[in-house]
Amino acid sequence: MNRPGTVLVLGTGQAGFQVAASLREEKFDGRVVLVGDEPGLPYQRPPLSKAYLTGKADADAVRLRPDRFFAEHRLELRAGERAARIDRAGRRVVLASGEALPYDHLVLALGARNRALPVPGAELDGVVQLRTLGDAEGLRRRLETTREAVVVGAGFIGLEFAAVAAARGVAVTVVEAADRPMARSLSVAMSAFFRGAHERQGVRFVFGASVVRVLGGDGGGRATGVETADGRRFPGDLVLVGIGVVPNAELAADAGLAVADGIVVDERLETSDPAISAIGDCARHPCRFAAGAGPVRIESVQNAVDQARCVAARLAGRTAPYGAVPWFWSDQGASKLQIAGMAAPHDRAVVRGDPAGGAFSVFCFREGGLAGVESVNRPLDHVLARKLLANGADLAPEQAADPGFDLKARAGTPRAA
Ligand code: NAI
Repeated sequence: MNRPGTVLVLGTGQAGFQVAASLREEKFDGRVVLVGDEPGLPYQRPPLSKAYLTGKADADAVRLRPDRFFAEHRLELRAGERAARIDRAGRRVVLASGEALPYDHLVLALGARNRALPVPGAELDGVVQLRTLGDAEGLRRRLETTREAVVVGAGFIGLEFAAVAAARGVAVTVVEAADRPMARSLSVAMSAFFRGAHERQGVRFVFGASVVRVLGGDGGGRATGVETADGRRFPGDLVLVGIGVVPNAELAADAGLAVADGIVVDERLETSDPAISAIGDCARHPCRFAAGAGPVRIESVQNAVDQARCVAARLAGRTAPYGAVPWFWSDQGASKLQIAGMAAPHDRAVVRGDPAGGAFSVFCFREGGLAGVESVNRPLDHVLARKLLANGADLAPEQAADPGFDLKARAGTPRAA
């Protein structure tokens, strides 16, 4: 196959960085240009709501690689530059500055952005979001003086933040539209466990509630709390909004590529233009682990890294369909959640281990097959679950729930043809 001379990567998050680094690991010898609108070196996002927020990690510790890595690997990093338009006919990307960058292959690793809270008062000082290093830096500073916080959204961002804030003695109220935490991803049993764990740390939950306004203080434009649709008011000098993300797909849509809640790609992660691939949070891809085999958009580090490696290998001449087992983790206080596979939706869930002791897994089944496994403080279950899913091994709910059943042996046994 023809190997492209210049690979241009838009987006310098985990996926964008990884495709560039993997191209060099694959001995790709052409130009690699990385363009991203965030300033500075690429960094990891997961610590931003964990070690960075608690002060255990600083900005250097979250960098993916030091400066010299980019020079040593001839990766041309254009940080702080925004792509304005893709000129597919001319095979170039026009930057906001007007400069045009040519490509032979373009990789869109544009990520997603946080959904804004569409209510009056959302612009007040003290209403914050968390996605970037800049956001985390501001939030860490604010936490030093915060006494009461309202979190809007009991998703991953909201609850990781709630755990950190509560541990610092902040009074935290979490206002969530659904009837349980992390409902988008988790089984009812695992949601219930995390609800209890947070409540024991003093976090208060308000479910089935929608915020209709952020309350403002007397002058100064500072937030003082939120009001929900039923008229209740919850005080907070900090309002953290974590209500999900929107994929950054506009550049692709404007260029005429297929877009449907994400940039649509095939099993090779190619868009509707074979000279353009899309990976990570912004891409919607077929996935044999998802209900109906997808397509799905997966927001996780694993997905960003593995899709980047898949595209790098293809551009270096080794084409293979993308088929990695999805996995995910979240640290919330003393509870470490790990998820293997795509547990949602499922029609049966069984528990292995001891929820009361804070270490157990929920094995989720869909149409008779294992769909995903959620583990809390049971790392071995998680590792075995990834193997079970990768091998397509047979497992019955009764076996998963039986503590005497040898999961390890089963994980090493691929399903009979
Ligand atoms: P999320 O999708 O995990 O959770 C959003 C929550 O907000 C949901 O529970 C939803 O029901 C709720 N919600 C939506 N609209 C609402 C409204 N108007 N009022 C109240 N609740 C509302 O998204 P989140 O937490 O914002 O995270 C953003 C991104 O960051 C996601 O891609 C997430 O996967 C990622 N992330 C991953 C982490 C990890 O890997 N451990 C940690 C933190 C974030």
